[in-house]
Amino acid sequence: MSPPIDFSLRRRTLLAGTAAAAAFSAVNRGGAAAQSTGATAGPETTTVTLSVNGEERELTVDNRTTLLDALREHLQLTGTKKGCDHGQCGACTCTVNGERINSCLSLAVMHDGDEVETIEGIGQPESMDPMQAAFVEHDGFQCGYCTPGQIQSARKVIEEIRAGIPSHVTGDLTAEIAITDAEIRERMSGNICRCGAYANILAAITQVAEESA
Ligand code: FES
Ligand code: FES
Repeated sequence: MSPPIDFSLRRRTLLAGTAAAAAFSAVNRGGAAAQSTGATAGPETTTVTLSVNGEERELTVDNRTTLLDALREHLQLTGTKKGCDHGQCGACTCTVNGERINSCLSLAVMHDGDEVETIEGIGQPESMDPMQAAFVEHDGFQCGYCTPGQIQSARKVIEEIRAGIPSHVTGDLTAEIAITDAEIRERMSGNICRCGAYANILAAITQVAEESA
């Protein structure tokens, strides 16, 4: 009779095996890619022209630069915030050609000729946009880090509802969409507020929607 099989696996053995497999895989992938494409390295930088807040801005960026970093690091427009840098928090929301996007998920080189609007272009302390004023009036922030993204999204949420674009919570797709708490909450769900100012943010957006009806 054969001896019982020992299924116990020592942690060190597992880690060593996993590392070796990963290294082998990486080497193989690199080799295969080089063989199959025969690609040569392209230019590492690109010059793009963006219209930012109505002003034409030309900049030369590393091709890997996100739109968010181009705005913050190249153009010193630091109102657009970097929260997660992974498309999960909405702090980096700005508008491109009139649509809200997460600028951390988009490369600057993809936006040559595009119109970008950041929080700086929406209003200034002495001449605030109605949504900015409503956030102030309703205390729609605490630390304020998420606020530029919240305001950018909030303005677009009202436009999107009025344009008849349905959301996950829209009931009747044939009727005019009402600007309800549920619609606003759903459409703002990509903008995270770690301070939890959601109730006040909702109040601010509702006020602007009612005043602009
Ligand atoms: S920084 Fe872009 S979604 Fe968080
Ligand atoms: S106000 Fe602090 S994260 Fe929203």
